[in-house]
Amino acid sequence: MKITFLGHASLLIETENTTILVDPFISGNEKASGKINIQDLNPDYILVTHAHQDHTLDVEEIAKNSGTVVVSNYEIATHYQGKELKTHPMNHGGNWKFNFGNLKYVNAIHTSSFADGTYGGEPGGFVISSEGKHIYIAGDTALTMDMKLIPMTTKLNLAILPIGDNFTMGIDDAVVAADFIDCNAILGYHYDTFGYIEIDHDLAIKKFDEAGKKLHLLEIGASMTI
Ligand code: NI
Ligand code: MN
Repeated sequence: MKITFLGHASLLIETENTTILVDPFISGNEKASGKINIQDLNPDYILVTHAHQDHTLDVEEIAKNSGTVVVSNYEIATHYQGKELKTHPMNHGGNWKFNFGNLKYVNAIHTSSFADGTYGGEPGGFVISSEGKHIYIAGDTALTMDMKLIPMTTKLNLAILPIGDNFTMGIDDAVVAADFIDCNAILGYHYDTFGYIEIDHDLAIKKFDEAGKKLHLLEIGASMTI
Protein backbone atom coordinates (compact mmCIF):
# COMPACT_ATOMS: atom_id res chain seq x y z
CA MET A 1 0.00 0.00 0.00
CA LYS A 2 1.15 3.50 -0.85
CA ILE A 3 0.26 6.24 1.62
CA THR A 4 0.46 9.90 0.56
CA PHE A 5 0.19 12.73 3.08
CA LEU A 6 -2.13 15.47 1.79
CA GLY A 7 -1.67 17.76 4.79
CA HIS A 8 -3.35 17.97 8.22
CA ALA A 9 -5.28 14.67 8.58
CA SER A 10 -5.80 14.03 4.88
CA LEU A 11 -4.33 10.89 3.38
CA LEU A 12 -4.45 9.09 0.07
CA ILE A 13 -4.04 5.33 0.31
CA GLU A 14 -3.52 3.36 -2.88
CA THR A 15 -3.80 -0.40 -3.13
CA GLU A 16 -3.33 -2.35 -6.35
CA ASN A 17 -6.95 -1.82 -7.41
CA THR A 18 -8.38 0.89 -5.17
CA THR A 19 -7.80 4.51 -4.18
CA ILE A 20 -8.94 5.54 -0.71
CA LEU A 21 -9.02 9.16 0.44
CA VAL A 22 -9.20 9.87 4.17
CA ASP A 23 -10.59 13.03 5.83
CA PRO A 24 -10.16 15.47 2.91
CA PHE A 25 -9.38 18.99 4.13
CA ILE A 26 -7.31 20.51 1.34
CA SER A 27 -9.00 23.56 -0.19
CA GLY A 28 -9.20 25.18 3.25
CA ASN A 29 -5.63 24.33 4.24
CA GLU A 30 -3.32 26.97 2.83
CA LYS A 31 -0.34 24.67 3.42
CA ALA A 32 -1.89 22.02 1.12
CA SER A 33 -4.07 23.86 -1.37
CA GLY A 34 -1.14 25.07 -3.49
CA LYS A 35 0.34 21.57 -3.70
CA ILE A 36 -2.70 19.31 -4.04
CA ASN A 37 -5.49 19.85 -6.55
CA ILE A 38 -8.68 18.20 -5.35
CA GLN A 39 -9.84 17.88 -8.97
CA ASP A 40 -7.00 15.42 -9.51
CA LEU A 41 -8.25 13.11 -6.77
CA ASN A 42 -10.63 10.42 -8.02
CA PRO A 43 -10.92 8.11 -5.04
CA ASP A 44 -13.08 4.98 -5.01
CA TYR A 45 -13.79 5.62 -1.34
CA ILE A 46 -13.59 8.52 1.09
CA LEU A 47 -13.21 7.45 4.72
CA VAL A 48 -14.39 10.02 7.24
CA THR A 49 -13.31 9.61 10.87
CA HIS A 50 -15.61 12.32 12.26
CA ALA A 51 -17.63 15.35 11.18
CA HIS A 52 -15.35 18.26 12.10
CA GLN A 53 -14.69 20.62 9.23
CA ASP A 54 -10.94 19.99 9.22
CA HIS A 55 -11.81 16.39 8.19
CA THR A 56 -14.83 16.86 5.93
CA LEU A 57 -14.46 20.18 4.10
CA ASP A 58 -13.83 18.68 0.62
CA VAL A 59 -15.89 15.47 0.90
CA GLU A 60 -18.85 16.69 -1.14
CA GLU A 61 -16.83 18.40 -3.84
CA ILE A 62 -14.67 15.33 -4.45
CA ALA A 63 -17.39 12.70 -4.06
CA LYS A 64 -19.90 14.30 -6.38
CA ASN A 65 -17.39 14.52 -9.20
CA SER A 66 -16.11 10.96 -9.01
CA GLY A 67 -19.00 8.80 -7.81
CA THR A 68 -17.04 8.03 -4.68
CA VAL A 69 -18.51 5.98 -1.82
CA VAL A 70 -18.31 7.85 1.49
CA VAL A 71 -17.63 5.48 4.39
CA SER A 72 -18.19 6.72 7.93
CA ASN A 73 -20.29 6.29 11.01
CA TYR A 74 -24.06 6.03 10.60
CA GLU A 75 -24.78 9.70 11.26
CA ILE A 76 -22.15 11.06 8.86
CA ALA A 77 -23.12 8.54 6.17
CA THR A 78 -26.78 9.56 6.57
CA HIS A 79 -25.78 13.24 6.29
CA TYR A 80 -24.09 12.61 2.94
CA GLN A 81 -26.81 10.28 1.74
CA GLY A 82 -29.12 13.27 2.16
CA LYS A 83 -26.85 15.14 -0.26
CA GLU A 84 -27.28 12.39 -2.87
CA LEU A 85 -23.80 10.91 -2.38
CA LYS A 86 -23.13 7.17 -2.34
CA THR A 87 -22.42 6.04 1.22
CA HIS A 88 -21.60 3.05 3.36
CA PRO A 89 -22.57 3.46 7.05
CA MET A 90 -20.59 1.72 9.77
CA ASN A 91 -20.32 1.96 13.52
CA HIS A 92 -17.78 1.19 16.22
CA GLY A 93 -16.42 -2.34 16.27
CA GLY A 94 -17.89 -3.15 12.88
CA ASN A 95 -15.99 -4.73 9.98
CA TRP A 96 -16.88 -4.80 6.31
CA LYS A 97 -15.15 -6.50 3.41
CA PHE A 98 -14.63 -3.99 0.62
CA ASN A 99 -12.96 -4.80 -2.70
CA PHE A 100 -9.61 -3.60 -1.29
CA GLY A 101 -9.84 -5.72 1.87
CA ASN A 102 -11.24 -5.42 5.38
CA LEU A 103 -12.16 -2.16 7.04
CA LYS A 104 -12.96 -1.79 10.74
CA TYR A 105 -14.33 1.35 12.42
CA VAL A 106 -12.70 1.63 15.84
CA ASN A 107 -13.07 3.79 18.93
CA ALA A 108 -11.68 7.28 19.37
CA ILE A 109 -12.07 9.77 22.21
CA HIS A 110 -13.00 13.13 20.70
CA THR A 111 -16.17 14.96 19.57
CA SER A 112 -17.92 15.02 16.20
CA SER A 113 -20.19 17.80 14.97
CA PHE A 114 -20.68 19.36 11.56
CA ALA A 115 -19.80 23.01 10.99
CA ASP A 116 -23.43 24.03 11.59
CA GLY A 117 -23.43 22.25 14.95
CA THR A 118 -25.48 19.21 13.90
CA TYR A 119 -24.57 15.87 15.43
CA GLY A 120 -21.95 13.88 13.57
CA GLY A 121 -22.22 10.64 15.51
CA GLU A 122 -19.40 9.47 17.73
CA PRO A 123 -15.87 9.89 16.33
CA GLY A 124 -13.76 6.94 15.28
CA GLY A 125 -10.69 5.65 13.56
CA PHE A 126 -10.14 2.92 10.96
CA VAL A 127 -8.08 -0.22 10.62
CA ILE A 128 -7.49 -0.98 6.94
CA SER A 129 -6.35 -4.50 6.02
CA SER A 130 -5.27 -4.93 2.43
CA GLU A 131 -2.69 -6.99 0.54
CA GLY A 132 -1.62 -8.67 3.80
CA LYS A 133 -0.80 -5.34 5.50
CA HIS A 134 -2.63 -3.55 8.29
CA ILE A 135 -2.81 0.20 8.88
CA TYR A 136 -4.44 1.96 11.84
CA ILE A 137 -5.69 5.49 11.20
CA ALA A 138 -6.47 6.83 14.65
CA GLY A 139 -8.46 9.91 13.64
CA ASP A 140 -8.62 12.73 16.15
CA THR A 141 -8.31 11.08 19.53
CA ALA A 142 -6.92 11.21 23.00
CA LEU A 143 -4.75 8.39 24.21
CA THR A 144 -7.21 5.69 25.21
CA MET A 145 -6.99 2.23 26.74
CA ASP A 146 -9.20 1.02 23.88
CA MET A 147 -6.12 1.19 21.65
CA LYS A 148 -4.91 -1.94 23.46
CA LEU A 149 -7.73 -3.89 21.81
CA ILE A 150 -6.28 -3.46 18.32
CA PRO A 151 -3.18 -5.67 18.61
CA MET A 152 -5.29 -8.41 20.22
CA THR A 153 -6.62 -9.15 16.73
CA THR A 154 -4.35 -7.29 14.31
CA LYS A 155 -0.58 -7.01 13.94
CA LEU A 156 -0.20 -3.49 12.57
CA ASN A 157 2.42 -2.58 9.96
CA LEU A 158 1.83 1.16 10.30
CA ALA A 159 -0.12 3.45 12.60
CA ILE A 160 -1.12 6.98 11.66
CA LEU A 161 -1.46 8.96 14.87
CA PRO A 162 -2.32 12.58 15.67
CA ILE A 163 0.61 14.29 17.38
CA GLY A 164 -0.29 17.99 17.37
CA ASP A 165 -1.66 18.20 20.93
CA ASN A 166 -4.37 20.66 22.10
CA PHE A 167 -7.24 19.02 20.11
CA THR A 168 -5.81 15.49 20.18
CA MET A 169 -3.07 13.63 21.94
CA GLY A 170 0.37 15.17 21.73
CA ILE A 171 3.75 13.58 21.19
CA ASP A 172 4.23 12.06 24.65
CA ASP A 173 0.82 10.38 24.64
CA ALA A 174 1.32 9.25 21.04
CA VAL A 175 4.50 7.46 22.12
CA VAL A 176 2.43 5.60 24.73
CA ALA A 177 -0.24 4.92 22.10
CA ALA A 178 2.40 3.32 19.87
CA ASP A 179 3.09 0.94 22.76
CA PHE A 180 -0.61 0.25 23.33
CA ILE A 181 -1.11 -0.69 19.67
CA ASP A 182 2.19 -2.61 19.57
CA CYS A 183 3.45 -0.81 16.47
CA ASN A 184 6.93 0.62 15.88
CA ALA A 185 6.24 2.43 12.59
CA ILE A 186 4.26 5.61 13.09
CA LEU A 187 3.21 8.29 10.64
CA GLY A 188 2.37 11.52 12.44
CA TYR A 189 -0.49 13.73 11.34
CA HIS A 190 -2.76 16.52 12.62
CA TYR A 191 0.13 18.91 13.39
CA ASP A 192 1.46 22.28 12.15
CA THR A 193 -1.70 23.22 10.22
CA PHE A 194 -2.49 26.13 12.51
CA GLY A 195 -1.09 27.76 15.63
CA TYR A 196 -2.59 25.51 18.29
CA ILE A 197 -0.93 22.38 16.91
CA GLU A 198 2.56 23.42 15.87
CA ILE A 199 5.21 20.94 16.96
CA ASP A 200 9.00 20.64 17.16
CA HIS A 201 9.74 17.99 14.51
CA ASP A 202 13.20 17.08 15.76
CA LEU A 203 11.99 16.70 19.33
CA ALA A 204 9.05 14.54 18.21
CA ILE A 205 11.30 12.22 16.19
CA LYS A 206 13.75 12.03 19.10
CA LYS A 207 11.07 11.07 21.62
CA PHE A 208 9.82 8.23 19.41
CA ASP A 209 13.40 7.17 18.73
CA GLU A 210 14.14 6.97 22.46
CA ALA A 211 11.13 4.67 22.82
CA GLY A 212 12.47 2.41 20.04
CA LYS A 213 9.89 3.67 17.52
CA LYS A 214 10.24 5.32 14.14
CA LEU A 215 8.21 8.48 13.60
CA HIS A 216 7.72 9.44 9.94
CA LEU A 217 6.82 13.05 9.16
CA LEU A 218 6.05 13.45 5.46
CA GLU A 219 6.07 16.65 3.46
CA ILE A 220 2.67 17.46 1.95
CA GLY A 221 2.39 15.42 -1.24
CA ALA A 222 5.09 12.93 -0.18
CA SER A 223 4.45 9.19 0.05
CA MET A 224 5.61 6.09 1.85
CA THR A 225 4.99 2.46 0.96
CA ILE A 226 4.40 -0.50 3.25
NI1 NI B 1 -11.74 16.87 15.27
MN1 MN C 1 -9.19 17.64 13.59
